[in-house]
Amino acid sequence: MQYDFTTVTRRFGMGSNKWDEMLRYHSEDQIPQDVVPFSVADMEFKTAPQISQGLKDFLDTSILGYANATETYKQVVCRWMYQQHGWKAKPEWILPSHGVIDAFFNAAKLYSEEDDGILLLTPVYYPMYYAAIVHNRKVVDCPLVENRDRYEIDFEDFERKAADPGTKVFILCSPHNPVGRVWTEEELRKLGQICNRHGVLVVSDEIHSDLVMPGHKHIVYASLGEEFQQNCLILTAPSKTFNLAGMQTSNVFIPNEQLRQIFFQELQKTYANPKCNILGYKACELAYTKGREWMESCIRVIHTNEELVRSFLAAHFPQIKVFPLEGTYLLWMDWRGLGVDYKELERINREEAFLFFDEGHIFGAQGQGYERWNLACPTACVQAALERMKAVYSKYGKDEG
Ligand SMILES: Cc1ncc(COP(=O)(O)O)c(C=O)c1O
Repeated sequence: MQYDFTTVTRRFGMGSNKWDEMLRYHSEDQIPQDVVPFSVADMEFKTAPQISQGLKDFLDTSILGYANATETYKQVVCRWMYQQHGWKAKPEWILPSHGVIDAFFNAAKLYSEEDDGILLLTPVYYPMYYAAIVHNRKVVDCPLVENRDRYEIDFEDFERKAADPGTKVFILCSPHNPVGRVWTEEELRKLGQICNRHGVLVVSDEIHSDLVMPGHKHIVYASLGEEFQQNCLILTAPSKTFNLAGMQTSNVFIPNEQLRQIFFQELQKTYANPKCNILGYKACELAYTKGREWMESCIRVIHTNEELVRSFLAAHFPQIKVFPLEGTYLLWMDWRGLGVDYKELERINREEAFLFFDEGHIFGAQGQGYERWNLACPTACVQAALERMKAVYSKYGKDEG
């Protein structure tokens, strides 16, 4: 089936933060039709027809009352994890949650105490810092190491930090936002062995796990073996894969009974118990039962966009370092080679070039001078953005071809 990955839907007035953010710099009519924001991680693609049609049918035949996750829903989610990633999960391990952020905020609070440490591989998705900070936990950051064009883990540093008795939780971002790594089995095993040795709980955010580029394979952390499975939470959602973030439905897998009870009781305190949106459940079910072909086509478009950016920048801006995109649709780039201060970079991009990236520094101090480009958009928008970039930066004598 042919899917529509080319239509641009202008989302002004639809409550989209990243679209409204552009209006701080330009009025709506000044913004060219082929400009889309490349920041916050949702897609500029129309919903998969299997999901939108399925939701319409559901609306015509159902009643929008309170709803819990049904047994069928949980089985569908487990089947997806097995078919997609080879991990055999049990339906009773699932606690639905409104979001993956909610889930790792809860985990930071529930499995540690004030002043304890939350371990992070940085730079990392910024709400993970807040999960520690808002609960008065310490951020224990283990900086990733740039080894030529690849980010790697400093296992010695990681072990030193995990061994501190105050370190209680490790929030793993897998695949890693923003650096685009898909962690190998060997890397995950090493991390896991260290955490198990020192009694650090692993909260594995796998929201990007379905969006893996050719040649890479996502490993569900819990699938490493029973001792790993018993010391972790696995957080997933259809929201990145199928662009359903507004449906606010995600799934928390907690194989360990005791850990699950702790999480469950917390949800009960707020009557969340665990309850999500009836349309969110349905959308997730439709995505996981009927969406695979759309997802595969979508990954091809993201891959095409990545190749386009990579080859264009290599030809015209070789001073910009583009990291490999192993997974996610978020391309991580080091722009420092242009020799422009990071604040000025942001100004030129937004005001002159209509380029709205996520600025690297929001992911941690190491990200200063870096940009994160969300490539989940029509290829024509990427092409147009590259042309604008060339036109603007050539005025500053920064392009090389
Ligand atoms: C790594 C990661 N985790 C979580 C989220 C957000 O999850 P949710 O919308 O389910 O709270 C994002 C969104 O960009 C993300 O990149």
